[in-house]
Amino acid sequence: MYNTNEEQYRHKYCGYNKNITLYLIEFSISITSKRMAICVGNNKKNHVCTIISKTQLCHGTFDYVVDFPIQPKPGQFIHILCGEGVLLRRPMSVCDYSDNRLRFVFDVRGEGTKRLAKHNVGDKLDILGPLGTGFNIDKKGSGTPIVIGGGIGIFPLYLTSKQLGSNVESILGFKTKDLVIMEQDFKSVCSKVHVCTDDGSYLSCGLVTDLFKERLKQGDITSVYACGPNAMMKAVAKISKEYNIFCELSLEQRMGCGIGACAVCVCKIAGQYKKVCQNGPVFNAKEVDFDE
Ligand SMILES: Cc1cc2nc3c(=O)[nH]c(=O)nc-3n(C[C@H](O)[C@H](O)[C@H](O)COP(=O)(O)OP(=O)(O)OC[C@H]3O[C@@H](n4cnc5c(N)ncnc54)[C@H](O)[C@@H]3O)c2cc1C
Ligand code: FES
Repeated sequence: MYNTNEEQYRHKYCGYNKNITLYLIEFSISITSKRMAICVGNNKKNHVCTIISKTQLCHGTFDYVVDFPIQPKPGQFIHILCGEGVLLRRPMSVCDYSDNRLRFVFDVRGEGTKRLAKHNVGDKLDILGPLGTGFNIDKKGSGTPIVIGGGIGIFPLYLTSKQLGSNVESILGFKTKDLVIMEQDFKSVCSKVHVCTDDGSYLSCGLVTDLFKERLKQGDITSVYACGPNAMMKAVAKISKEYNIFCELSLEQRMGCGIGACAVCVCKIAGQYKKVCQNGPVFNAKEVDFDE
């Protein structure tokens, strides 16, 4: 039935079968324990963290700060138990970290994030992490580094910008003016912040890639760090390749276990299937196969 092992693997783990796999993982977790504590190695363990602050940034977007004992790298993520009735953890990027305080920002999308948004200051959250690889800040080169984010993809880029140095620039894309958030945060750490909206209701009208192409004309950009919808990252990867600029992408893949045990998150990277939670979520743009 299958020509190669690879085809068999792809059939097993991709497309609609991911939803079945996610359901099976959730089911097996539910019969094992209601609050499963996963400990894998020293830095992959769960922490019970107190919510120190909670702010609503715009409709359906919440900004949480929790106490957290480990300094994460920019681009790493945490895996959160959202609360009663949601047994599978949900991945969230590290947005900021200092003085044992970790900030993450999230959009309410479905049951998990809806439940997460119901927590209040003083509540405890069970958080696994930090997980995954981070961005390679040391590859930024001698020119200007730039971060490019679309929608929820801007969140991992704040700590990344902070660590890239004072000459870093950012390009941030939102659907509409009402959804523009964290502009002041980025202004406080970037030498320039370029904002665009899909409908032109705030600052530039159009896509982040339009601003990126325009900015590249100055000839000083040596590295790109991006996160956002697949179509955006595919375009950023293509442009960076044309200009021969170092480019890393943080993939927003659906996840199950978050620690390399279930294969729900596999993506084709450099011709091989890799687990985004373990081998990523950050990959070199040249290696990501967006057509899989
Ligand atoms: C490494 C990583 C970091 C992330 N960081 C953030 C973050 O900082 N802030 C944030 O708001 N979100 C982030 N996400 C996405 C977030 O994990 C999902 O939005 C969340 O898991 C949805 O859970 P839910 O139960 O609310 O929705 P579900 O009921 O599971 O799904 C609701 C909708 O959201 C879509 N969705 C589910 N998972 C993802 C995903 N991984 N990416 C894109 N769409 C998804 C589904 O297709 C569906 O349409 C991240 C994802 C990954 C993989
Ligand atoms: S989410 Fe389970 S292997 Fe990546």
